[in-house]
Amino acid sequence: MSRDVIIACDFKSKADTMQFLDKFTGEKLFLKIGMELFYAEGPEIVREIKRRGHKIFLDLKLHDIPNTVNKAMKVLSKLDVDMCNVHASGTIDMMKYALEGLKREDGSRPLLIAVTQLTSTSEEKMQKELLIDRPIDEVVIKYAQNAKEAGLDGVVCSPLEAGKVKQNCGNEFLTITPGVRFETDDVGDQVRVTTPKKAKELGSDYIVVGRPITKAENPVEAYKRCVQDFCG
Ligand code: C5P
Repeated sequence: MSRDVIIACDFKSKADTMQFLDKFTGEKLFLKIGMELFYAEGPEIVREIKRRGHKIFLDLKLHDIPNTVNKAMKVLSKLDVDMCNVHASGTIDMMKYALEGLKREDGSRPLLIAVTQLTSTSEEKMQKELLIDRPIDEVVIKYAQNAKEAGLDGVVCSPLEAGKVKQNCGNEFLTITPGVRFETDDVGDQVRVTTPKKAKELGSDYIVVGRPITKAENPVEAYKRCVQDFCG
């Protein structure tokens, strides 16, 4: 498995997204499309970006009863995305149904990864509001193990957790890690951040990078720097 940089396309519209993508000429990118853009533009935004030859991580974080998730995944599998995700808290059964729904007639399927605990959920909130008494690190590892048992390909986690996930779930189990900044960047609302170089050392397979590229003065340069530091 080769490492790759995924650009988080956190744009509100197709126009903004295409204006950003037009800066790149020749590069085949791996792009993350989230709820905002997908709900604003619908499945056509995915088809349009695929037509340009880019890969897509469709970040919709499904979480519902297994049957509903299975049927939703059947629809998404037809969109020809390369990666999609669910919440691990939907249970092992739900993740198995999701995986089954993604399988295309030719036997291929997108990568399926699980969100463990959102990085916006603190240990305190998880314990007080969700009544999960264990330390959050333990919960993240248990959810990753559940995802592995369900047959998923990996999890979204902090680069700082990537090593521990690999130790517990094996080196082939993918870690997709947001929270990446260059030393000189504004941290913004991210709390636990690492550089692309550090993420590589820590064992991430994919880094998800948004603002350090999308808000850079020269996004193409920033992207190339990420690729060089992380994949080089
Ligand atoms: O702009 P920035 O690099 O912080 O963007 C990171 C992207 O990764 C955003 O799309 C954010 O929603 C996503 N993400 C995250 N933390 C998670 C899961 C997803 O930052 N735990």
